[in-house]
Amino acid sequence: MSTRRVRVIGIGPGGVDQVTVEAVAAMRSVDWFLVLDKAASVRDGAPDPLVRAREAVLARHVGPSATVVYVDDPPRERRTGAVGADADYRAAVAAWHDARTERVADAMAARPGDVGFLVWGDPAFYDSTLRVLDRVADLPASRTGSGEAVEVNVLPGISALQLLAARHRIVLHEVGHPLHVTTGRALRSAVDAGQRNIVVMLNRDLDELEQTDLAAWSLWWGGNLGTTTERLVTGRVAEVLPQVRAARDRLRAAAGWVMDVYLLRAPEGER
Ligand SMILES: C[S@@+](CC[C@H](N)C(=O)[O-])C[C@H]1O[C@@H](n2cnc3c(N)ncnc32)[C@H](O)[C@@H]1O
Repeated sequence: MSTRRVRVIGIGPGGVDQVTVEAVAAMRSVDWFLVLDKAASVRDGAPDPLVRAREAVLARHVGPSATVVYVDDPPRERRTGAVGADADYRAAVAAWHDARTERVADAMAARPGDVGFLVWGDPAFYDSTLRVLDRVADLPASRTGSGEAVEVNVLPGISALQLLAARHRIVLHEVGHPLHVTTGRALRSAVDAGQRNIVVMLNRDLDELEQTDLAAWSLWWGGNLGTTTERLVTGRVAEVLPQVRAARDRLRAAAGWVMDVYLLRAPEGER
């Protein structure tokens, strides 16, 4: 039985220079790339800037020979509730993963050869590619191409949280202290649970930082890291939050997208 390789390749958080040598070799080894592209109805007809960023990585590291197959990324139902609505949120994410699984399986069935998935940052942090591929593997073999064995390799990438630390020249935790990594929607529960050194990703807004108990915490913030529009802000939350909000607005206007990540650390007396 022949083996079909699936390479899940971390490409770093946006810049063509944040790609490892190993990732480049993997990109050059596959026959085609499967790129999930938000359907035009979801992105108001404008090109998806994160797809354009992947194309830039391929142009730089593979060249014009790269074959890209675009697959419409199914829209995800957005639930705004925080911790109380956790079950709802998980159900929405599971439904989205199911929909993605179907589309990835269809695309793989339609085209033979080794396939590469270009994962933003590192596949280990807040990315569904490996979960979707596990689901694809559970489908009958006939769904993804004439019953051949599928081997999945993961090539790690630089995560946004690593680039945040590098750009601010910091260690993300103090000596002997733990680090908690979470999402904007789960920040409040992390603080309430006693976490004092928190990296926060997936921020729809920064409203959680308005809470008065966080005013004296230290913030190291980074937006669109690794790209030409990259911005950094650091200081006490209450003092720099307006600056961070303004930086986010400027990034959205300049780049057409904004992704930000930050480290939040409790004042010394509270740790
Ligand atoms: C879906 S998660 C993917 C994370 C990715 N797998 C990683 O390892 O960085 C997207 C979140 O990562 C963070 N992120 C990704 N790229 C970023 C960048 N260039 N600058 C700042 N934050 C970024 C943001 O918090 C964003 O909401």
